[in-house]
Amino acid sequence: MPRKSPRLLVTRRLPEAVLARAARDYGAVLNTDDHLYDAARLKEACQDVDAALICITEKFTAEVIAALPQRFKILSTYSVGTDHIDLAAARARSLPVGNAPHGVTIATAEIAMLLILGCARRAPEGQRLLAQGKWAVWEPTFMLGRRLDGKVLSILGLGKIGQALARRARAFDMVVHYHNRRRLPQAEEQGAVFHETPESLFRAADILSINAPSTPETRHILRAETIAWLKPNAIVINTARGDLVRDADLIAALQSGRIAYAGLDVFEGEPKLNPGYLALPNVMLLPHIGSATIEARDQMGFEALDNLDAFFAGRDLPFPVA
Ligand code: DGY
Repeated sequence: MPRKSPRLLVTRRLPEAVLARAARDYGAVLNTDDHLYDAARLKEACQDVDAALICITEKFTAEVIAALPQRFKILSTYSVGTDHIDLAAARARSLPVGNAPHGVTIATAEIAMLLILGCARRAPEGQRLLAQGKWAVWEPTFMLGRRLDGKVLSILGLGKIGQALARRARAFDMVVHYHNRRRLPQAEEQGAVFHETPESLFRAADILSINAPSTPETRHILRAETIAWLKPNAIVINTARGDLVRDADLIAALQSGRIAYAGLDVFEGEPKLNPGYLALPNVMLLPHIGSATIEARDQMGFEALDNLDAFFAGRDLPFPVA
């Protein structure tokens, strides 16, 4: 007798190829109108499923995890980040959690590179000027930016995305520095200069790129005291998580000219944005689209499904986080 397919809640409208595979292999409960699940709706939707494939928009707090029924066996997230899941609560309930660690890498590194180039060459100001019909004549000293060659790119968090960004930055002849909690083996460093502390990394930066996960230690790692470590002309890029930056402090530093520019794809409390950002000329802002390419989003879905397939086949998860 064929095995009954596990029932799988898919919380958001994922790319077609991912949904097709989920529907082929599972009793998939799809979200055709792509509504958002708050805690109450999430608890209810999980009552009659064996597993869930979730996104960063679904908060699996200790409360939600405590309400999961006995039959609910595994959670797989369509993201590399896991800050929307209370991993301690999942471990306490022996709930396996898997993520999608590779799909995002290249696309997010590309977005970081886009922001670096856009900020160094002041692209948002140029676009705004054209849109306002204010471009009158070519001028030798108009909108001068900076070249990237020879500049120090300080990467906070040289993980997979940080390393992919470093490879791209080297193609622009940038000099890569980094800080991680532990120094990487030489093969992964690829010549990047290691700093023992965030302070020493920040002081070296012409451009600082934040590529570290959100944890209690990294929260607000960029704030007034640490902004003071940066060079006056520094550019700040964040494609990781919004809560690594204290918005009010970054906005004040951009307003005063204490730092030159910021390129941000993520915001604390997103999709709400601190309105202070919108009044600044020296920012390049994107709506969390780091992984928004079809290649990345398909791969993320396949990785998340690989976790579920392995679990229900009695194998180890290929991408376990808890
Ligand atoms: C992730 O995978 O954590 C991203 O932020 C979603 O694009």
